[in-house]
Amino acid sequence: MSGNVRPASMERITTPELAEAFINEQVAALRAQIGSKKVLLALSGGVDSSVVAALLIKAVGKQLVCVHVNHGLLRKGEPEQVIRVFRDELGAELIYVDAVDRFLDALAGVDDPERKRKIIGKIFIDVFAEEAKKLDGIEFLGQGTIYPDILESDGIKSHHNVGGLPPELNFELVEPVKLLYKDEVRVVGKALGLPDNMVYRQPFPGPGLGVRCVGAITRDRLEAVRESDAILREEFANAGLQGKVWQYFTIVPDFKSTGITDGKRTYDWPVVIRAVNTVDAVTAEVAELDFKLVQKIVARITSEVKGVNRVLWDVTPKPSATIEWE
Ligand code: XMP
Repeated sequence: MSGNVRPASMERITTPELAEAFINEQVAALRAQIGSKKVLLALSGGVDSSVVAALLIKAVGKQLVCVHVNHGLLRKGEPEQVIRVFRDELGAELIYVDAVDRFLDALAGVDDPERKRKIIGKIFIDVFAEEAKKLDGIEFLGQGTIYPDILESDGIKSHHNVGGLPPELNFELVEPVKLLYKDEVRVVGKALGLPDNMVYRQPFPGPGLGVRCVGAITRDRLEAVRESDAILREEFANAGLQGKVWQYFTIVPDFKSTGITDGKRTYDWPVVIRAVNTVDAVTAEVAELDFKLVQKIVARITSEVKGVNRVLWDVTPKPSATIEWE
């Protein structure tokens, strides 16, 4: 797509038919732009990069090389899903990089939230650039830029997510969804056959679970975040709340409190549950959850998650709180 301004005449993509038309148009445009060259794409598994990957696979097949970096801060099952959907089902050329130790070692002892973000952003770029340098003949870089990213150049993504590729890797950008709004990207993703839990995913910050493991990240507390998040998501899905509540997740603060399990005293972490609704993430209200559901989640987290003896429910709107805890 050329130009960074959405033409007034551009129809909002709301139906599978409109999505098909968009896909056909983009596939032709991508083929014309890329020719027989190769494209590289950092594939996080988020909606935007997944839709770009699926469009590029349709347009240029194996000329697309996807790189999925596992920084250890992804949700439970995410790297496996990216590999299954893109490599196994869509036949993509996919490089999986297990960089978990590299990220967690660099983050050890770092408790300042913005420093944590900077380290995660910097290592991500380093790892991606190292993979790019190993490949021959790459001339293009695919990106999941969407229209709100262009409109709010100081918006959440560009505000929080640092970095760019080193100058020697100055690929030409390929940004097929840059004039689309998020809801349109989802309609296109659905039409491309991506699974619902990828297309209708709730927003997930670039630094991932790293900003939900409050303070200096430790592997055991990070596992408690990952396991409790998986339980919360499963219970929300069972209660039919997937896609109805805007964002929901768990946080593990870095303090302990006393508890009791099987008649024995424990001294363990709490898990905080957070579920919010918002239109634009600038303000947010707390989702009104059924108390029986909350009780079920509390019971599961305290019995299934290692090192946790207490669950708290954050009922603070934004403002005064932010959605995330860091
Ligand atoms: P806050 O916590 O500022 O979050 O109320 C607003 C929205 O932005 C997401 N968020 C991030 N997204 N990189 C991102 O890509 C980040 O560093 C980051 N921090 C927060 C947050 O999940 C919420 O949806």
